Amino acid sequence: MSSLKTKFAAKAVPVAAEVKTLFKEYGSTVIGQVTIESVIDGMKGLPSLLTLTSKLDPQEGIRFRGYSIPELQEKLPKLGPDDEPLPEGLFYLMLLDELPTLADVMEIGKEWKDRAAIPDYVYKVIDAMPMDSAPMADLSAGILALATESKFLQAYNSGIGKKDYWDSTYEDVMTLIAQLPVIAAYIYRKHYFKGNVIPADPKLDWSANLAHMMGYDSPEIYKLFRMYLTIHADHEGGNVSAHAVHLVASALSNPYYSYAAGMLGLAGPLHGYANQEVVAWILDILKEMGTENPTKQQIHDFCEKTIGAGRVIPGYGHAVLRKTDPRFEAQCEFASKYCKGDNFIQVVNDLYEIVPPILGSLGKVKNPWPNVDAYSGSLLRHYGINEAPYYTVLFAVSRALGVLASLLWDRALGLQIERPSSFTLEWFQEKAGIKK
Ligand SMILES: CC(C)(COP(=O)(O)OP(=O)(O)OC[C@H]1O[C@@H](n2cnc3c(N)ncnc32)[C@H](O)[C@@H]1OP(=O)(O)O)[C@@H](O)C(=O)NCCC(=O)NCCS
Repeated sequence: MSSLKTKFAAKAVPVAAEVKTLFKEYGSTVIGQVTIESVIDGMKGLPSLLTLTSKLDPQEGIRFRGYSIPELQEKLPKLGPDDEPLPEGLFYLMLLDELPTLADVMEIGKEWKDRAAIPDYVYKVIDAMPMDSAPMADLSAGILALATESKFLQAYNSGIGKKDYWDSTYEDVMTLIAQLPVIAAYIYRKHYFKGNVIPADPKLDWSANLAHMMGYDSPEIYKLFRMYLTIHADHEGGNVSAHAVHLVASALSNPYYSYAAGMLGLAGPLHGYANQEVVAWILDILKEMGTENPTKQQIHDFCEKTIGAGRVIPGYGHAVLRKTDPRFEAQCEFASKYCKGDNFIQVVNDLYEIVPPILGSLGKVKNPWPNVDAYSGSLLRHYGINEAPYYTVLFAVSRALGVLASLLWDRALGLQIERPSSFTLEWFQEKAGIKK
C-alpha cells in the first residue's frame, strides 16, 4: 500500500466514527431553517452538505482545510522559493488534513506518473467525436470510456462489503487524476494541432506535464499551471460541479461516472464555462471598438450595453462570495509580476474598476465583484493559449482534485444516498397561506 493510502486509511477510521456519533446521537439537532426563498433560489445558504476538503466564506473566500490561498502559497511545498505550490500538495492536504512535506508531494507525483497510461480505445472514442464538438464533451466522453477500467465497479460487482468501498475508490481516484492531464492534452492537440500529440516528460510534475503535452514549455508557464491547477481545485461542496459529483456518487456510481457528471455541470455558462465567455466577451469589446486598447469609457458603454441586452457580465458575481474572489486576486498578482504590458490583461484590470459600480447600481446583484473566471483566460492568452472553448477543460482537470478527494471521503464515511423531498406548487402555496 502506498504511504498516502495507508495514511488515509488510518485517518478515515476516527473521522468516520465522529460522523457516526453525530448521526446517531445528535441527528435531531436543528442546524438551519428552510424557507420558500431558499428552495426557489436554488437552495443557496441551506446547510445541507457535509464536505471536509474546503469551506467558502462569503467575505473571506475559500479556505482549503482552514488555509487561505495566500497561506497555501506560503506553506505548501514548491520546487523553488519563487515558485507556486504543487497541486499534489493541495490534494494531500485536502485528503489528510495535514500539510505535506516535499517528499510526500514527490511521492504522490510519482504515483500519478505510474498510473497515467490510457487504454487505446479511449483515444478512439475521443477521435470519433466530431471536430466541432465542445472540448468538454470530448472530455466527458473520454472519462466515460475510461469507466470500464473502474476498480470500484469491479470490486462492487465482485460483492465487496460497504466498509471496503473506499479502498477501490482510492484506486480509481488516484488513477483518474493521473490520467486527466494526458486526456486533456490529447483533446487540445486533437482540436488545435491536427492530433499531433506530445508525449509526457517523466521529469516534469503533474501541472508542468500538462502544459508540456499541450505544447507549452517555459518555467513561467509551468508556474502558471501549478497555480491554476491549485486555485481551481475546490470550492466547498455546494457548487454545481462538486455537488453533482457527490450526488451521483451517492448512488454508488463509480468515480468516473460521478466525475463526468460533475464536469458536465462545470460546462454550464453560469459555472466553469464563464472562463471561456469572459474572453469571448472581451474580444467582442475590442472588435466593436476597433482597437486593442479601448478607453475606460468605451468599456463602460459596452458593459451597459450587455446589461441592457438582458445578459450577465461574465466573470462577475457569485452565489456565495460577497467580495473579490481571492482566486482572482492570486491571478492578478501573478499577472502584475509576469505579464506586464499585456493589452488584454489591461482590459481585465480596467473591468475590475468599471464593472462593480455598474452591477452595484442595478440594486439586485448580490455580489458585484469578480470571480475566478474573470482573470484565468487572459493569463492563458498571455502565454499563447488562445483557444477559449478549451479553457473549461483546464478548470475540470483542477477541479478533479477537490471533488475526487471529497468522493473518497464520502465512501470512507459511508455517506448515504442523497434524496431530498420535493413538493408541488400547491403544497408551497398552502404553506405560504395563499391557498387552502
Ligand atoms: C454566478 C452567478 C450565476 C450567481 O447567481 P446568483 O447567486 O443567482 O446571483 P444573484 O443572486 O446576485 O442574482 C441576482 C440578480 O442579479 C443578476 N446578476 C448576477 N450576476 C450578474 C452579472 N455578472 N451581470 C449581470 N447581472 C448579474 C442575476 O442575473 C439576477 O438577475 P434577475 O433577478 O433579473 O434574474 C451570477 O452572478 C452570474 O450569472 N455571473 C456571471 C457568470 C459567471 O461569472 N459565472 C461564474 C461563477 S464562478
